[in-house]
Amino acid sequence: MKCALPIGNLHRVALLTIFLTSIVSILPLFADDLGVEDGPVVPYPEGYRAWRVIKVRIVGPESSQFSTRGGIHLFFANDKAVEGFRAGRFPDGAKIVEEIVRPKEGDGPFKGTQADGARVSIDVKVKNEALFNRTGGWGFDTFKGDDKVSAINESIRGRCYACHTSQKDRDFTFTEMRQ
Ligand code: HEC
Repeated sequence: MKCALPIGNLHRVALLTIFLTSIVSILPLFADDLGVEDGPVVPYPEGYRAWRVIKVRIVGPESSQFSTRGGIHLFFANDKAVEGFRAGRFPDGAKIVEEIVRPKEGDGPFKGTQADGARVSIDVKVKNEALFNRTGGWGFDTFKGDDKVSAINESIRGRCYACHTSQKDRDFTFTEMRQ
């Protein structure tokens, strides 16, 4: 009887198996480059300065957070986030930005005043239930200064989510929209 799979073919099958196995085993080495490890990206929130200001906080020298987060904190919400604040739950597409800026001393007629100066950073939350299902439906990110490239990695993102989890009943959001 003729063998259905001659020995030559067996060789090829074996070689192919070794080849495929080695490709699969080196794939994780490239995972970082491909962004696989990094999870879904949060895009820079272009134009957020035109959104609604929902809250302002000044973190002054007496605050324990002053050395790391001192400055004027401005909170912005896009239309979908405003909807979310009203409903108590945020729809996909909702975006909230917490911006920190240094106070800038005024002069001339503005002597004795402080305005919003250099941008220190923005913390961003973007709602997309499917994309960010591992972190409560929210994508977290930070951008430093005027940089539009993320300043944090996956492990810091995990810390954002971990702390915001205390507000799970409020859709992971600490802030309330001032009426
Ligand atoms: C240790 C706790 C903690 C960690 C870690 C944390 N946050 Fe927050 N976050 C808060 C608190 C508290 C507020 C409310 C701040 C206020 O009222 O001034 C807040 C507010 C926010 C807001 C405004 C919307 C909201 O949920 O109230 C955004 C956006 C935000 N954080 C993003 C981030 C990002 C991005 C990270 C990680 C880089 C992060 N947070 C890490 C505690 C935390």
